[in-house]
Amino acid sequence: MKRVINMPGIRSMEADSTSANQNMSYERLQETLSDCGQEHLLQFWPSLSPEGRQRLSGQLSAVDWSMVESWLDRYVKHQPELNLPSDLRPAPSLPAEPGDDRQRSLYENAIERGRQLLREGRVAGFTVAGGQGTRLGYEGPKGTFPISPVRGKSLFQWFAESLLRAREKYEAAIPWYIMTSPLNDGQTRDFFERNNYFGLPSTEVFLFPQGVMPVIGLDGRLLLSAPDQLAVSPDGHGGSLLALRQSEALADMARRGIDCISYWQIDNPLVYIFDPLFIGMHQQTGSEMSCRGLVKTGPLEKLGNFCLVDGRVSIVEYSDMPERLARMTDEQGRLIFRIGSPAIHLLSRSFVERLTEGGKLALPFHRAVKKVPFVNSDGEQVEPDAPNAVKLETFIFDALPLADQVLILEAVREEQFAPVKNRTGVDSVESCRHLMQERAARWLEAAGIPVPRSEDRGLGCQLELSPRAFLDPDDVRRRASQIQPPQSGNKEYYE
Ligand code: UTP
Repeated sequence: MKRVINMPGIRSMEADSTSANQNMSYERLQETLSDCGQEHLLQFWPSLSPEGRQRLSGQLSAVDWSMVESWLDRYVKHQPELNLPSDLRPAPSLPAEPGDDRQRSLYENAIERGRQLLREGRVAGFTVAGGQGTRLGYEGPKGTFPISPVRGKSLFQWFAESLLRAREKYEAAIPWYIMTSPLNDGQTRDFFERNNYFGLPSTEVFLFPQGVMPVIGLDGRLLLSAPDQLAVSPDGHGGSLLALRQSEALADMARRGIDCISYWQIDNPLVYIFDPLFIGMHQQTGSEMSCRGLVKTGPLEKLGNFCLVDGRVSIVEYSDMPERLARMTDEQGRLIFRIGSPAIHLLSRSFVERLTEGGKLALPFHRAVKKVPFVNSDGEQVEPDAPNAVKLETFIFDALPLADQVLILEAVREEQFAPVKNRTGVDSVESCRHLMQERAARWLEAAGIPVPRSEDRGLGCQLELSPRAFLDPDDVRRRASQIQPPQSGNKEYYE
């Protein structure tokens, strides 16, 4: 699979950025950069080694300089305008559990259909793992973070074992595509190789890097991260759509007869990676992009809101949602905008092919003002203590309005959502491990296996169900007679 990356900001940059094949000459670069007011990027050129010059000119040649002025104008000098329509409405969604007999039979048929698609090998896993995980503050790709509560398995191992179980369960090849970024691609590959792909056939795990964007100082000047290196950041999970095409992952999927791509983020170990109900419904409704939805815990919960904008499903970020709308309730006191996005999607391969035809897809950028280390004009490395730069990212959910058919299926929060964003507090390592154990306990209890609990129903032991053996509650039920109940105060691990 190709490791070349393309995107609107940086053209055809090699993952290691040392060998872009059409480097501009120094004179051309000088002219281009001075036209854009960015000539400082060449200030260390005279003192660079031949390799350094090669690296820098490769990076600079790959930038789409015709766009720089518009990025500065739209995202750095000004805040992008938010044009929410006055008649913003909530998008319709289906409940997590069927509400009546008609729906029950619809859901049962969908589950059967989903299982069939999995058995036929028409579904692939797709994990986006290119983020920088800055909030977690962990050295190394987030996927290598030891998350599981008893064994300390990494997020990558957790999902690899889930895939192994799914392959066994559906007796099918289920390829796994993983998007990295040029900043963590090498470390991620090493991790998989060192761990023997956790038992998966290495021919069925595809790692490919996403695109990057230059980081822009608040003064409008692009930053250098070293005298011979442009500061760049991954172009957001929205970059995954183009990266699927540029890496030839899409072509690979077509060869394998994959038509449904199950998308999840590396930092949510609870996600049902291959949910027959969701997959079956996606197919039966002819949806191009499907989303799981969560009933929000409150009006201001930090989840994107599923809305209808000009009749098209769109996500309005929590930060963009006017508080007045977020708090609006219906006659039963329920929030009007009550469904938020946990970033769990299914994409039809044909949809991604259509969107990225010709190697182009212009999703809107979202700006984030961050602290980004850089090299100053004296060649000194600076670690800023206040936000100094704008990072530009695209978001996968901005593809929703481009889909002709969208399905939103609600999910039970405790079953599928435990994101690891921070070390402690909300959406943290702590809360995630707690939720992983609580779900394991629920699955055991549902299979009739007692779990020690305190008076206030808190768990009386530490608990981990290996996803290699237990992908869903059914797996626990099937093996219930062989499972010894967990004992109070113990660390219990089941495989
Ligand atoms: P987040 O937006 O939460 O970012 O990513 P993050 O990088 O994990 O963490 P912070 O914001 O720096 O603390 C959600 C998911 O999207 C992926 C992440 O790896 C994670 O799975 N992602 C994000 C990418 O793959 N590429 C990106 O450019 C951004």
